[in-house]
Amino acid sequence: MSSAAKPKFKNPRARFNFEGRPVSVTGVGSYVPAKILTNLELEKMVETTDEWITTRTGIKERRISAADEFTSDMAAQAALRAMKMAGITAEQIDLIIIATITPDMPFPSTACLVQQKIGARRAAAFDIEAACSGFIYGLEVGQQFIMSRTYDTVLVIGAEKLSSIVDWQDRNTCVLFGDGAGAAILQNRPNSHGLLTAVMGADGGKANLLTMPAGGSRCPATADSVNARLHYLRMDGKETFKSAVQAMLTAAQEALRRCELDITQIKCVIPHQANRRIIDAVGDRLGVSPEQLFVNLDRYGNTSAASVAIALDEAVSSGKVSRGELMLLVVFGAGLTWGAAVIEW
Ligand code: ACO
Repeated sequence: MSSAAKPKFKNPRARFNFEGRPVSVTGVGSYVPAKILTNLELEKMVETTDEWITTRTGIKERRISAADEFTSDMAAQAALRAMKMAGITAEQIDLIIIATITPDMPFPSTACLVQQKIGARRAAAFDIEAACSGFIYGLEVGQQFIMSRTYDTVLVIGAEKLSSIVDWQDRNTCVLFGDGAGAAILQNRPNSHGLLTAVMGADGGKANLLTMPAGGSRCPATADSVNARLHYLRMDGKETFKSAVQAMLTAAQEALRRCELDITQIKCVIPHQANRRIIDAVGDRLGVSPEQLFVNLDRYGNTSAASVAIALDEAVSSGKVSRGELMLLVVFGAGLTWGAAVIEW
C-alpha cells in the first residue's frame, strides 16, 4: 500500500485495538448454493407478490441449499476460498469460530464438523450464537485471541441454512431469508492494522421479538411442538425494524468514534442485508452516500450470520474496495444483538 493511500487518523493510537497486537484480515471467501428461489416462485407458495416483497424489502431472490447440503458444507467451501486468498494451509489454522443459528445439529458444534471437512487438525473449534450479528461477534472474539498472543491464525465463518427453520407457510417471514456462508482469516501481520475495531452489544429485554420457540430445554421436541409449528423462526417484524435502525446507528457511530474516523473516510459501508428500508434509514442517518453503500440483498435476502461475511467477500472481489481502504460493517439480529467493525483492507 502506498503511503498516500493510508487512512489519516488524527490519533492512530486512540482506539483500543491499536494498543494490542495488530490483527489483519488476510483472506475472505464466500459460498452460496446454486438453487435460486425467486419472488415469482414464492407467489406460488404463499399469498404474496413480487411487488410487495420488492417494495417492502428490496429482495428479488434468495439461494436455497440442496437437501443434502448443510451449514457445515457451505461453511467449509467459504473457508477454503478464504484460505486460498490468505495463502495458508489448513494446518496453519489455530482456531475455528463459526457463527450460526442453524448448526448441522445442536451438538457437536458445526465448527468441529468444519475442522474435519477442511483438515484443520491443529485447530480448536467452537460455535457462537448471536444470530445476524454473529460474524461481527466472531471477528471480535477471534481478534482477542490474536491480540492476547494465544493464537496466530483464526478462521471466522458466518454460515446459515435458514431454509431449514423458515416456516414456508408464513408469508411474514418466508420471503425474507436465504442460505449461504462467508469466511475470513485473521492473522497477526506486523505493521498492519486490518481489523481496527469491533463493537458488540445486546438487549435480552427484547429477546421475544425474534425466536425459534421450540427445540431447546424450555420446549423440547414433541409431537405437539411440531404440530404447533414451534420449530420455525418467528418474528415481530415491525418492532424488529424499529430496534434495528437505532441499534445499527449506535454501533456504527461507536466504531467510528473509537477509530476517530468520519464516515466520509470510509470507502465501503457493508450493512446487515435484512431490508433495503433499514439499510437506507441507517445510511441516511449516518450520512452514507450511495457510492459507499454495498448491497447484495436483492440476490440473497437475509442470510443472518452469513450476510455481512458474504458481502465482505463480494465487496473485495468486485473491486468495490482496494487494499488500504476502509470498510465499516454494521449488523443487527435476534437477541437482540448488534455490532460494527472497521476494517482496513
Ligand atoms: N406478502 C404480502 N403481504 C404481506 C407479506 C407478504 N410476504 N408479509 C406480510 N404481509 C402483510 C401483513 O400481513 C400486513 O397485512 P395487514 O396490514 O393486513 O395485517 C401488511 O403486509 C403489512 O405488514 P407490516 O408488518 O406493516 O409490513 P412492514 O412494512 O413492517 O414490512 C417486514 C414487514 C418486511 C418484515 C419488516 O417489518 C422488516 O423487515 N422487519 C425487520 C426484519 C429484520 O430486520 N430482521 C433482522 C433480524 S433476522 C435474524 O436475526 C434471524
